[in-house]
Amino acid sequence: MPKVTFKKEKKTVEVPEGANLRKVAQSAGVEVYKGLHKYLHCPGLGLCGSCRVYIKKGQENVTKPGMIEKFTTTIANPEAQFAYIGHEEELRLSCQCRVTGDIEVETAAPCNWHGEKFWG
Ligand code: FES
Repeated sequence: MPKVTFKKEKKTVEVPEGANLRKVAQSAGVEVYKGLHKYLHCPGLGLCGSCRVYIKKGQENVTKPGMIEKFTTTIANPEAQFAYIGHEEELRLSCQCRVTGDIEVETAAPCNWHGEKFWG
């Protein structure tokens, strides 16, 4: 069974292959939402961009982003766009990820307001 490690929370859980990452986090008591988004978010539809995480290791062990996720992270949601800049390979919407192997996750991916790749 794949293992999901939440870096900040220092938690590792085993999950069935194909498990939804957002649901895995919630089951493990890991919060993927920040601030008001804990109450105001789309329920896993890939539209609000607030469940974003960084897949720090094992990007190949989650399903590829679909059209809705790409649209949300690159066009529709400014907050998700800023988190995406400089983290194109690792930023994912947890509600749109299915786990197929071991991964390491950093929750609550911040906006990259002043990262070296944003102004450079
Ligand atoms: S819960 Fe809204 S994009 Fe994932």
